[in-house]
Amino acid sequence: MFASVLLLLVALCAHGGHGEEAPRPGHVSVVVVGGTGDLAKKYLWQGFFQLYARQVSGGNTFSFYGGGLSPAEKATPLLFEILKAVSCPGDVSAERCALLREQFLRLSQYRQLKTQEDYQSLAEHIQLQLQQEGMTEAGRLFYLSVPAFAYADIGQKINGSCRPAGGAWLRVVLEKPFGHDYRSAQVLASELRSSLKDEEMYRIDHYLGKQVVSKILPFRTENRKYLDPIWNRQHIERIEIVLKETLDVKGGRIPFYDQYGVIRDVLQNHLTEVMTLLTMKLPSNVSNSEEVLQNKLQVFSSLLPLGKNQAVTGQYQTYNSEVEQELNTTKGHISLTPTFAAVLAHIDEAQYEGVPILLISGKMLDERVGYARILFKNDVFCLQNHNNVHCKPKQIVFYFGHGSLQYPAVLVSKNLFKPVMTGSEWKEVTEHKEVSVLGLPASDYYVQTPAEEKEAYAELISHIFHGRKDSFISTENLLASWGMWTPLLRSLTSAFPRIYPGGAENGDMLDVRLKGNEISYNSEVVIVSADKMGDSSASSFKVMQGKFRSAHMVSAWTEELVETLAADMQEAAEAAIGEGGVFHLALSGGSTPLALFYRLALHHFSFPWRSTHVWMVDERCVPLTEPESNFYSLHESLLKHVRIPYYNIHPMPVQLNQRLCVEDDGGALLYEKDLSQLVNGSSFHFVLLGVGYDGHTASLFPGAKADQHGQSLVALTESPSKPHQRMSLTFNAINRARKVALLVMGKGKHELVTQLSRVKDMPEKYPVTGVKPANGSLVWYIDYDALIG
Ligand SMILES: *[C@@H]1O[C@H](CO)[C@@H](O)[C@H](O)[C@H]1NC(C)=O
Ligand SMILES: *[C@@H]1O[C@H](CO)[C@@H](O)[C@H](O)[C@H]1NC(C)=O
Ligand SMILES: *[C@@H]1O[C@H](CO)[C@@H](O)[C@H](O)[C@H]1NC(C)=O
Ligand SMILES: *[C@@H]1O[C@H](CO)[C@@H](O)[C@H](O)[C@H]1NC(C)=O
Ligand SMILES: *[C@@H]1O[C@H](CO)[C@@H](O)[C@H](O)[C@H]1NC(C)=O
Repeated sequence: MFASVLLLLVALCAHGGHGEEAPRPGHVSVVVVGGTGDLAKKYLWQGFFQLYARQVSGGNTFSFYGGGLSPAEKATPLLFEILKAVSCPGDVSAERCALLREQFLRLSQYRQLKTQEDYQSLAEHIQLQLQQEGMTEAGRLFYLSVPAFAYADIGQKINGSCRPAGGAWLRVVLEKPFGHDYRSAQVLASELRSSLKDEEMYRIDHYLGKQVVSKILPFRTENRKYLDPIWNRQHIERIEIVLKETLDVKGGRIPFYDQYGVIRDVLQNHLTEVMTLLTMKLPSNVSNSEEVLQNKLQVFSSLLPLGKNQAVTGQYQTYNSEVEQELNTTKGHISLTPTFAAVLAHIDEAQYEGVPILLISGKMLDERVGYARILFKNDVFCLQNHNNVHCKPKQIVFYFGHGSLQYPAVLVSKNLFKPVMTGSEWKEVTEHKEVSVLGLPASDYYVQTPAEEKEAYAELISHIFHGRKDSFISTENLLASWGMWTPLLRSLTSAFPRIYPGGAENGDMLDVRLKGNEISYNSEVVIVSADKMGDSSASSFKVMQGKFRSAHMVSAWTEELVETLAADMQEAAEAAIGEGGVFHLALSGGSTPLALFYRLALHHFSFPWRSTHVWMVDERCVPLTEPESNFYSLHESLLKHVRIPYYNIHPMPVQLNQRLCVEDDGGALLYEKDLSQLVNGSSFHFVLLGVGYDGHTASLFPGAKADQHGQSLVALTESPSKPHQRMSLTFNAINRARKVALLVMGKGKHELVTQLSRVKDMPEKYPVTGVKPANGSLVWYIDYDALIG
């Protein structure tokens, strides 16, 4: 009976009004679904209490419901424990505060919200209360502090039974993530749209509740007369939007984070929002939500597309083992999820053409700080530079908090202008701490800070109550943002992030360089950690500055690496043949280069084999017809598949006079003679080397004196652990080459790569460190398995 009355009411309100207008007085029901969760505990109830404290005298009455899946007996005490901890705004007297808190607790209750019936009974309860107390209803606010997969279902339940009647508003608040790419965001949006109207949904980005962020548009408006002439490409050097964190991800967040990574977690939403606020066309009326949202949307349509050359990514060193632990992945699992990213965006509009916009965020960085900075060009040349204000950076900084300054602020360098900040909510700071903020002492800025610091969630909750939609993410805006990020995310799916040690030890390895439309790491750093297995104290972390062992390095997944090397080899061949008509190539044995040989045989049909001479770097003292022989495997995997004249093939003469590697037979001298006669200056065009677990290269083993072979080019050598003797090119021969490629692949080589990254040149211990072409170049080709283990 009662239920049918309710149904009628529900039907009546299906055309319920919506409220961009000032709140109409009346009763407001607040429902926090997930009301005992972390977010609710930390921010939401505090925000709702503040709302209550401020609005209770404004003609509204309230009731509060904490909802969740747990039964009421279990969750009620939990909820009240949280509610008892709320604190009053600073301007409320202790006496009044106590009273407000007591009232707040009395108006609150827990309700199990699991089934459609639960929602129905909540609606009945609200309705009954309204009737009993003869109140008009102003609206219902549902805050969904639950995982995103539950949104669609809860949305339906709200639409099914909780819509308010008689022109009262319904507002449903959602927390990110709103999908993980364009497609999934679209699916979620359309699911929600079937139960909620667009104007009823409030997608939270808590950044928009930060006081400094929400001041960006008003600041731009109030200071228009100063900014109009300089807010353009002629004057802006670049825009930086940066959120640096010092924490890692572990502690339960990994299952979420590993699916998302820093770009989805921070750049797609927080930093993108700040970017749009900085670059959007100013609305003629900043209080007009619709105009603000429209102008924001326009920014997306003029952004240049982002591809993988517009981003660099990183991952802190211990992340992968944290994933292994928390996700129980198999040892050796490699997560490519970035925990650091720097992205370069450009807006294709006359006003901003060519202005670099950097968006940067990461975990485990040296400090916790967030800011947006507009750095202006400075064309003044100060002859006597010392402390001359005209030559200092000209910049405006929106400082979100933490960092050296420790408080949120808007800073304008004094060589720009003294900003106007209307209203009483901001105050000028005149006493400066002796800190430097982005290259300038605080005293070189006009500094404005909020008169009272307010929590972002409390601000946003107040905006929701007032129906201010400009601080929320509209569906269009959300999809436009995913439209911007999705192609980049896709292009990065198999990109390998740079591994960084974390904290101050990152040094300059995450510095980036902008070149035209592209961004790259400034240093070609290779990091190698000594401690992939076990001990992972940050101090044992070794960062190689520049390149690998100060030579150039190419690194990629095995297949790409092999292809890169094959292509480089072909390029060298074509260049040599173009120059002198012939290409002298020396190849190593062992199993590592086999993949390269197959690649050359099966994919490089245009390789100029006819003009190529193939030499051996080293050979085992076995007959060339035995599988053990380096030549044999080279022949099987490469030579027999390509059209190379047989007289261009130069196996080492390990077998002479029916015996193997006898000094007196002079095999080494014979090879050396061939080499000197055929190869100009005994200088190979290209030498391919590998490196053994013990650091040997070619057949030059540890323990031998580096200069043992003097000026010889070829020598008989002996491996300490193996019975067979070898024939090998000497350091002298190798170091005369024009190009030397050192190929290192496989996880098993990781420990060695680590050691090699740290040791000085010690050819007697690590023969490979004796490879130093005197007039040529050395390139290390190291696959990711070997590089990071
Ligand atoms: C909500 O539910 C009603 C009734 O079931 C349905 O007609 C309507 O399409 C739903 N969605 C919205 C946004 O009202
Ligand atoms: C700006 O917009 C707000 C909200 O739409 C409105 O109340 C106000 O009157 C507008 N101000 C002007 C100057 O148009
Ligand atoms: C981790 O995986 C192993 C093997 O699949 C399984 O035996 C073990 O119970 C798992 N541990 C946890 C904590 O999930
Ligand atoms: C041999 O190398 C030298 C030095 O690189 C060069 O000047 C000369 O032209 C080369 N000779 C031939 C025959 O290619
Ligand atoms: C390097 O080049 C110089 C000058 O061309 C030459 O004298 C020297 O012998 C070369 N060194 C080697 C190891 O090839």
